[in-house]
Amino acid sequence: MHVSKYKINVYGKILEEGFKKLSDFADISFYPENKLPGIDEFECQNKDTDAIVTWFTHKLDATYISKLKKTRVIANYAVGYDNIDIKAASSAGIIVLNTPDILTNATAETALLLTFACAKRMKESILRVMTQNLEDVSPSFMLGKDISGKTVGVIGAGRIGGKYAQMMHSLGCNILYHNRNHSQLLDDFGFRYTKLYDLLLESDIVSLHVPLTSETKNLLDCEKLSMMKDDAILINTSRAGVIDEEALISLLNKGKFFSVGLDVYNNEPYPDPRLLDFNRVILLPHIGSATYETRLRMAEFLSETIILALEGKITSLNNIVNKDLLESII
Ligand code: GLV
Repeated sequence: MHVSKYKINVYGKILEEGFKKLSDFADISFYPENKLPGIDEFECQNKDTDAIVTWFTHKLDATYISKLKKTRVIANYAVGYDNIDIKAASSAGIIVLNTPDILTNATAETALLLTFACAKRMKESILRVMTQNLEDVSPSFMLGKDISGKTVGVIGAGRIGGKYAQMMHSLGCNILYHNRNHSQLLDDFGFRYTKLYDLLLESDIVSLHVPLTSETKNLLDCEKLSMMKDDAILINTSRAGVIDEEALISLLNKGKFFSVGLDVYNNEPYPDPRLLDFNRVILLPHIGSATYETRLRMAEFLSETIILALEGKITSLNNIVNKDLLESII
């Protein structure tokens, strides 16, 4: 008879088939809600769990983490992990895993989709067809923007930003990028490293690909948004907090921007209702990595790496987000 070794709780409606292999090693309970339960229920659910799986809508603050008495792994079903108090997890000796690489293409493709949708005025076009409001269709109707030949500024040209930059480059765009450090690899692609201010001043299209941290919170504040070209396109598929949303709305009201494409919101998954009023603002419900293949592989990858982490084989893992903190604290 097979004896299950580990107990794992999976929070969020994650594809169960992705955990097939894991079920050979563990008893898995699934809690499909997007929010964690109240703190007492959470404590009760986790009194003897070895690992939990969460995604970005599950806020694991220090109080929640303090209830994980036996848990050794938190596996976040996302590349971003700003929903987790990493310091508290590290102090508790808990390994935090994420899903880098796997979702790079899917997320870059979503940024590309928003870029096209903004440049080609997709929302207005679809609304017009859906409402049959087409009397004024003419050769000068619904004029958008070419993508080829434009200057694209990528803020945060890591895995996803770098892939998006390559895609845009292949469409004939000039690429500027801004990272903490300049990268030889990106320079070799023919991309140009610039200061953030120069990138904002020069770009026709700006796309954000930075994680949300204390350093990137409101990275694009009113001053920086105002520096952008009046007819620029702004794309955000990273985290809403990297743009000052109030400033964005106020500038949109003043007529700034050709178009804005967003996949992320402060109150996930709900956009600020004021954003719905703009025909030139295109909103997606945080579907950056939402393809069947990618979301399945993310679950399989977490399954594989949770087992390795629980078995202590951590040197073989490239998805521990708190390795340094764990080493300095434990
Ligand atoms: C999605 O937003 C992710 O961080 O994977």
